[in-house]
This record gives sequence, C-alpha cells and structure tokens, in this order.
Amino acid sequence: MTRTPRSPGVLLRLLPLAVLLGACGSLDGGPVGVGGLSFAKSGSIVTDDGRGSFRFGAATAATQIEDDNRNTDWWVFTGPKEQGGLAKSPFVGEASRGYTLAIEDVKLLQEMHLDSYRFSIEWARIEPRRDVIDEEAIRHYSDLIDALLAAGIKPMVTIHHFSNPTWVDDPRDLACTDGPTDRNLCGLGHPVGGPLVIAEMAEHARLLAERFGDRVDEWGTWNEPMNYVLAAYGLGAFPPGKNRLFNFIDEFLPTIRDMLASHAAMAKAIREADRRDADGDGRPADVGLTLAVIDWVPSRDGQPSDDPADVAARDRLEYALHWLPIDSIRNGTFDANADGVPDEQHPDWQGTLDWLGVQYYFRGGVTAAVAAVPVLDLAPCFDAFDLGACIAPADPTFCVPVMGYEYWAPGLHDLIMDFSGRYPGLPLVVTEAGIQTRVGERRAENVVRTLEQIGRARADGADVRGYYHWSLYDNFEWALGYEPRFGLYSVDFTTYERTPTMGAEVLGRIAEERSVDDSLRERFGGTGPMTPEPGVPENPRTCNRADLAK
Ligand code: BGC
Repeated sequence: MTRTPRSPGVLLRLLPLAVLLGACGSLDGGPVGVGGLSFAKSGSIVTDDGRGSFRFGAATAATQIEDDNRNTDWWVFTGPKEQGGLAKSPFVGEASRGYTLAIEDVKLLQEMHLDSYRFSIEWARIEPRRDVIDEEAIRHYSDLIDALLAAGIKPMVTIHHFSNPTWVDDPRDLACTDGPTDRNLCGLGHPVGGPLVIAEMAEHARLLAERFGDRVDEWGTWNEPMNYVLAAYGLGAFPPGKNRLFNFIDEFLPTIRDMLASHAAMAKAIREADRRDADGDGRPADVGLTLAVIDWVPSRDGQPSDDPADVAARDRLEYALHWLPIDSIRNGTFDANADGVPDEQHPDWQGTLDWLGVQYYFRGGVTAAVAAVPVLDLAPCFDAFDLGACIAPADPTFCVPVMGYEYWAPGLHDLIMDFSGRYPGLPLVVTEAGIQTRVGERRAENVVRTLEQIGRARADGADVRGYYHWSLYDNFEWALGYEPRFGLYSVDFTTYERTPTMGAEVLGRIAEERSVDDSLRERFGGTGPMTPEPGVPENPRTCNRADLAK
C-alpha cells in the first residue's frame, strides 16, 4: 500500500494507482536495498556541528521500571482495593525493579555500546508532597547520571513521562471537592488548579536543572503529551482518570492549553537554571519534547479510501495530533477549536523547542464515515474498537498482538519527511521506536528496519540525529500491565533477571560498528514479511485487538 498524499491537488490524481497497488498487496515501502548503512559518531542534538551526527540509544520511563514507587498516581490508580487503591488496571507493583537495579542496569547499555540513555526522573519521588523535596531521591538520580557518564553514556532526561505525584491531581478525588489544596491541586485544565500545576512543573524542572544541569544538557519536557492528555484526561484510561473528550471545547482543549503552557514554563525554567555546558557543544541546555507519531491512512468500510472526506479526516487527525502542538510552541499560538487556524497568541510559548523527538510504532486507519471523535468528526481504528476504520495489514506478520496495530516500517520514513518538510531547521531524533514481541528475530527485524527507514530519511535530506529503541528492558506497559514485552532485554518478573534478546545482540553489533552491514540487512531488513509471532491468526482481517483476539 502506497501512502495517500496529504492534501488534494496534483498528488490526489495519483490515488487510484496508489490504492490499486495497495489492493495488489504490494509491500513496497520505497527502495530499501541491500548495502551497508553507516552512521557517524554521536554529536550535538541542536548545533549545526551536530548535523550528520548519530546517537544510538535505548529508552525507559521511571514509572514503567521503578519498584516501590508509592507516591505516584499510578500506584493509587492501579493499587489493589484492600490497600486503598482503585484497581483500575493491572497493578504496577515492583515494575522491573529498575530503581533498586538502576546502577547495575548501566551495564546493559554498555554491553550494547550505546551512546545515550533516555530515562525519566520520577517527580513523585523527588517531591512526594507538595514543596517537600526528598534529597535521597535526588542522590539516587545523581548517582545514576554519574554512573552513565563514567560509562561514556550521555543522559537524556525526560521530565514528565505519563505520571504525577498524587497531590497534582488525585485519582481518588476527581471532583476535587475542596478546590485546589496542597493535597490535591485538581490538575491541568482546572480553572484554578491548572495554573498552580503549571507553576509546580516549572519549579520541578528548575530544581532538576539546578541539581543535574552540570552533567545533563538534553532535556525533554513532556513525553507524548497528546497521547497522555487523551488517555488521562480524555478517556480516563490513565490516572487521574478523567473523561473530558466529550466536553471537548470547555474541558478537553483547556487541558491541552495548560499542557502546552507547562511545556513553555518548564523550558524557560531549564534555560534559566541550567547554565553549565556539560557536553562541550557550546550550549548548556537543549530543550525538546517527544511526540507520538502515527502513520494515519484514510479508510472506509475496512478498506483504504481515496474518498476526499476520508483524506480530509486523516488530515484533521494528523493536524490535531502532530502539527497543532508543535506549531503552538514554535509560533506562540493556539488553535483553540482545532480548525486549522490559530486563534490565540501566546508569545511566552514561542521558540521553546530546540529539538523534537518522534516516536513511531504503527500505522492505522481513520475514516470520516463515523463522527466518533467530537470536533474532529472522524473515527480512528483504536484499541478494540472498529467503526470501519481498521484495514488489513500489508502482511499478517506485521500485526503486533496485544497492542492491536500494524507495524509498518516505511511509515517512519514518511513521517520523518513530513516533519522535516514542515519544520525545516528543527533537528529530529527518533526518541522511541520498538515493537511488542516475545520473538527475538522480530525485535532484531524492528531494529534493522527502523534504522533502514531512518537511513532513507537521512539520505532524503532529513536532519535525524539518533535512534533510541523502546525499551531497554521489559516493563510496565501502563493500562496493559505486564503482558506486552518491549525490551531489548527480557525480564523474568519473578527473579528480575535481565536476558539479552536477539534485538539487543543486533543493536549492540550495529552500535559498535556504527553500521548495519549487508548480512544484517539481508537477514532482518527490508519491507517483506517478518518472523511470525506465535498466536497471531494466519490471516487476520485487521490488526485491531478485537480481530487478533479471535
Ligand atoms: C510510550 C511508552 C510506551 C511505548 C510502547 C510510547 O507510547 O512513551 O511509555 O511504553 O510507547 O507502547
């Protein structure tokens, strides 16, 4: 299936051919031929000198890996009822024991010859109660940063990765009955509490920059903020568990506005407080944000569609999820009704992004046939719901079980090119790419294919400066608990032993040689069928969770 052009015009006339190719089952994702693919050494994420550089890395997030993380909203949201929890989804519990084992885990990165580690610092550990700082937790992360630097691994710190201390927006008191108090600020999007949370996030970012800025230069304010706001404040699937999607204009958009304001406030705080150039590139702090990017395909009645209504629906969804947030913080504007035209000015947001992380896992259909999402008037293929938007995978082996989507390798190239075209001069990094699988070959295929697509995008002129595999080791996959496996190292959740998968071996070899050689490309690369995942039906109608579960 070839990609549907973004907007009507000359390209639209090519559509029938594109759809025909798709219908013939072509796996053509562009010329990914065999031949060595090499990568220069790691460099600055922002400066002109860093253009052409490339870092290999792996990523994690604190809540997903850290044991005994009691002050997070996830602990309360998922905790058993007998212990005062809400038991809304599988209990996070000990996660991967990544707090206790943090220093030992540095070895795993070293074994793979990685240049950088992207991890998050748990706000709930640093500030378990409002304005009470836990110096022990600061020491813990400080030791981790020292251990990374001693191993020659550059730290990239995410400030917010899907979790809060409970006092930010307590899942046990969603109505926030007493209004904002020190025990519950009522969260983003609350008319009084929202600005308080933004101020607290900036204060927290400032503290991190003051304590770690002498050794850390690369900061990501938010991880996948649009997905987070949707899951936590739109659909109630993540803590705090608010369902605002259907009160789009009055409640959901104000939450997004607050989130963008908090990015700008954190960026400003970091730039003021981090004055030490730790990596010698002439810049003390490089502030970015990481965004989930999805290859949306116009669809109707379970088929790819060239109906202009579906193409326009795809464009609207892409605008809302990809462009609106980034336009806002680059230009200092906000499109409060998501109609494509910015209608608020926020000069203090402007220019608060030095680099952008893109995180890619799948492609999925979106149709205009059903107006399931308010304001945007469309229905994406989502979770176990199929309102006609879900389409067949190009090959059944591309289906990713448990997650319920299609891993379509060339989508990464196409999305990088879109971002690079829309934001020339903004350095990009693939801060997450990976696959849910228990099969080592499939993870190795994901590593090699991801690098091939990044290589294509670089050859096409995109300024992509690195790739972080998600994830370093198996961990807590949020509302889905521990069934999904994303680790380069698999974790035995009874002994917490880490064992390298074939993905770790292959990435390690690539990072050591700084190239993907012919033999790896022949064995794992390309766009053809992948090694099958046991348990996936031979010919699923779509990769949607409902179809894969049959
Ligand atoms: C998130 C991770 C998550 C991964 C795999 C990304 O959306 O940043 O926290 O585990 O995808 O689903």
